[in-house]
Parts: sequence; C-alpha cells; structure tokens
Amino acid sequence: MTSFDFQPRTRIVFGPDKIDALGDLASEIGGRRALVVSDPGVISAGHANRGIASLVKAGIETHLFGSVHENPNTDDVEAGVKLAKRHDIQLLVGLGGGSAMDCAKGINFILTNGGEVKDYWGVGKALKPMLPMIAVPTTAGTGSETQSFALISDAQTHVKMACGDKKAACRVAILDPKLTVTQPPRVTSLTGIDAISHALETFVCTKRNAASLAFSREAWRLLAGHFAKVIDHPADVEARGAMLLGASFAGLAIENSMLGAAHALANPLTTHFDVAHGQAVGLMLPHVIRFNSAAVENWYLDLLSTMPANGAGPVPKSVDELAHFVAALTVKAGLRTKLSELHVAYDKLPQLAEEAAKQWTGSFNPRNVGAEELLTLYQQAF
Ligand SMILES: [Fe+2]
Repeated sequence: MTSFDFQPRTRIVFGPDKIDALGDLASEIGGRRALVVSDPGVISAGHANRGIASLVKAGIETHLFGSVHENPNTDDVEAGVKLAKRHDIQLLVGLGGGSAMDCAKGINFILTNGGEVKDYWGVGKALKPMLPMIAVPTTAGTGSETQSFALISDAQTHVKMACGDKKAACRVAILDPKLTVTQPPRVTSLTGIDAISHALETFVCTKRNAASLAFSREAWRLLAGHFAKVIDHPADVEARGAMLLGASFAGLAIENSMLGAAHALANPLTTHFDVAHGQAVGLMLPHVIRFNSAAVENWYLDLLSTMPANGAGPVPKSVDELAHFVAALTVKAGLRTKLSELHVAYDKLPQLAEEAAKQWTGSFNPRNVGAEELLTLYQQAF
C-alpha cells in the first residue's frame, strides 16, 4: 500500500465553447491585467483572439505574448517576462499546446521569484507565491494544464529542464474540445501518443497509488478508445473531447505519481537528434512495456482487464499484445517505430544511454534501469 496526499489544485471546466467563459473565470480569480501566452499557429486558428475577446468583455486589460516556439526555451521565457513586467501583469493565461502552457509557467516562475529558469529545475524551488494561471489547451497531449511541471529547454545547451512546483499549478483548466479540432494531423498524432504513454507509464511507476491509478485507468480507457477515431475522423468532437479529457486525466496521474523509462529514453533523442517528444516516447514505449513485464506483468493485465472494445482492433489480452497495440497506434499515427528510420546514429547509442540513465523520471520505472539496460532498449528499438 502506498501513501499519498491528494489535493486537486486545478478546477477543470469541460465542454464545447467553454473558451468563451475565460473572461468570467478570470474575473472570479480577480486579476485585472492578463498576459495571454500563445503561439502563431493557435493565433492564426483564431483561438487566441476568441480568448482575448472574452477577457476584454469581462473588463480585463489583456496583452498577448504570441511568439512561443515549439519546445519553448529560456529565450522565450525571458521575452515573456519582459512583456509581463512592462504591463504589471496579475494573471497568466496559457492558451495553446504544451509549449504555450509550459512557457506561461516558466514566465510565472521568473516574474514572481526572480533569477533564471535553471534555478527552478527540480521540484519545489520557488519560495514566493506565484501568480494565478489559467490554462486553455488546444491539443490533447502533455496534460500540462493539470500538472505543476514546466518543461523549458536551455537556449544554449538544448537540455530540457523540468521545473515543478505546486504553486505553478493552474488555478483553472478550460477544456474545450472544439479548440482541438484545428490541430494539424501531425500534432494530433504526436500529442495523442504522448498522452497514451503518460497513462501507461504512470500506471506502473513506483509512485503509483490509489489516487493516481484512478486517473491513469480512466485516461487509458479514454485515450486508447478514441485515438484511432480522431486520426480517422479529425472533426469528431465527441472523440476529441474524450482525448482532451484523457490527456488531462493523464496529467493528473503524473501530478500524483511519476513517469518511467520511456520518458527517460525519449529526452536524449530529442536533445541530440531533434526527435519530437511524442515520436520518441511512442517508439520506445513498446520496448519498455516488454522489459517491464518481467516485473509488473499483473499490473498491465489489470489495466487491460478494464479496457473496452473499440475501433482500434481487438483488445490486447497479454503484455506482448499490449506492446503490439501501442506500436500499431504509433503506425496508425504515421509515426516511425525504429530509431534507424529517424537518422539516429547507432554509435551514439551508448552516450544516449548514459544520459538517459541520468534522467530523474527513469528512477520511477517499476524495473530498475541503468545505462546498460537503457542501451539494450535503444538497441532493440534501432
Ligand atoms: Fe510525455
């Protein structure tokens, strides 16, 4: 039995067109000057303007920081902090994918606690209160809206820094499924596979507990049951809603437990070969599942026992079939299943394994992984 301390920090408001409630929800919190953090794709889809219109209608002075890059780095955060200081911001809104939400959290750390991003690398490094933040995700993926971590890359070294602090958790997450319909197909693929990996990794990690398992299980049911549907029918708002909720529940599972080896293996692939996060985890996950099954086969079988039949083919009955199921979803998403197809250099694998072994997230994998085991996993995936 694992002890836990479960305190929901984020109010979740779910439903089509709920973005129009942004202004009223912001008013309830009380900020009079807001900074909306977004990116060019989300702005051109019209979502940022809709959110801003709602804020302005509620009488909130609103400024837009709309140039966040994918995998935001310390330069993005610095630019946002400058703008936030100039306008004496009282409330942050992360409106976009994981990049926009993480950048908003990064801005919040520096704006309220000073210093630079690397000062908050780790957990609980902020000493002063932080500004309230509202998240409006436009992708169903990272679950950043329901967890208190921001992933920010160092602009020089490209190393991803995970900065976590309960104070950085969003006050409100507005989950509007209609916003996710405009995602480019590749974003739907990458973020969906990432969310699925969150459900699976949290379900077997060493910090799993009764609270996190409830979220992992429901996240898996929603995500595994609807991923194929959103690939085949991108405009299906019901399926989009299931994916968005699944990704947020997976975020809550992360918040209340941890991830595992697939994420430890993915990060060096992103740092050195610019492999997109969802592609990297999706490719490594089937190998990690097979590796873990020697220790926690029953846990995977437990998850499968509650999995409903869906359009993605027969329900897996064994851990090996689960690994195949995940690999098939990766193929369905148009992603690669071998490292050799991604121009990853074979002779670099030992160095990648050394770096993967230093990833904090790997220490929560249910089966111990050191550089040797991680190298074997990379080789299997080549
Ligand atoms: Fe992830």
